[in-house]
This record gives sequence, structure tokens and C-alpha cells, in this order.
Amino acid sequence: MENEKLIKIANEMRDKAYAPFSKYTVGASVEVEGGKIIGGCNVESASYGLTACAERVALYNAISKGYTSFNAIAVASKNGGFPCGACRQVIWELCENIPVLIIDNENGITKTSSKELLPNAFSKDKLENY
Ligand code: THU
Repeated sequence: MENEKLIKIANEMRDKAYAPFSKYTVGASVEVEGGKIIGGCNVESASYGLTACAERVALYNAISKGYTSFNAIAVASKNGGFPCGACRQVIWELCENIPVLIIDNENGITKTSSKELLPNAFSKDKLENY
């Protein structure tokens, strides 16, 4: 896994964030099968509740490009914020257990995993129709 490139793209994605309300810019990058890296940023709404987090934007961007298998995800913010609860569920469902890298603006890196972020997750294998 090319962590350097993954981290670079997560950082670059922060510049694309649309965060006029919180001013808290977040970039995310996901390494897909074959090694390509796809990015996303947070996109806020004046309603607040419709805001889309960077992690989900990155994953949905990758899915919309046809990728279904993910190797790692990185999330960059000024102070190394961790994925919110909703993103943890989506990361788990789409990626199962993958490395999650949390990046701050001093290039501090915290390594965790989607399993560690969401212990005892509700999983799709519980659904009879899956
Ligand atoms: N945000 C993310 O993009 N990812 C997270 O996991 C946590 C929060 C964004 C949403 C909102 O635009 C801003 O950070 C402040 O909550």
C-alpha cells in the first residue's frame, strides 16, 4: 500500500471542501483494488443536516466509478478528527476491515482500522435478503 500517495491525496482533497458554515475542511482518499486512489471532500448544506462527509463522498465517488473493493482509506483534517459514526458504518459495510489513516495538518498520522472504529458492527450478513 502506497500510504504516501493516499495521504497526499487526502490532504489535497481538503482544498476542494465546501465548508462555508463550519470552516472545518475534510479530505478523504480511498485506495481501490488495483491501487488507484479516489478522493472526496466534505460538502456542507445550509440546512446542516444534509452535509455530506468527506469519507462518504470519497467512497460513493469510487463506487460510482465502478470500484467495489477497497484497500485503505485516509481522512485529513486540521486536527486529526476521526470519522463520524455514520461514516464508520458506511466504511464497514463497503470495505469491511481495512486500515484507516487519520491525518492532521502537521502530517501526524494515526493508524487504526474500520473494525476498531466500529466494534460489534451491524453487518449486512444479518440481512436475509442480502
Ligand atoms: N466531517 C467529515 O467530513 N467527516 C467526518 O467524519 C466528520 C465531520 C465534516 C462534516 C462537516 O462539514 C464538518 O466536518 C464539521 O462537522
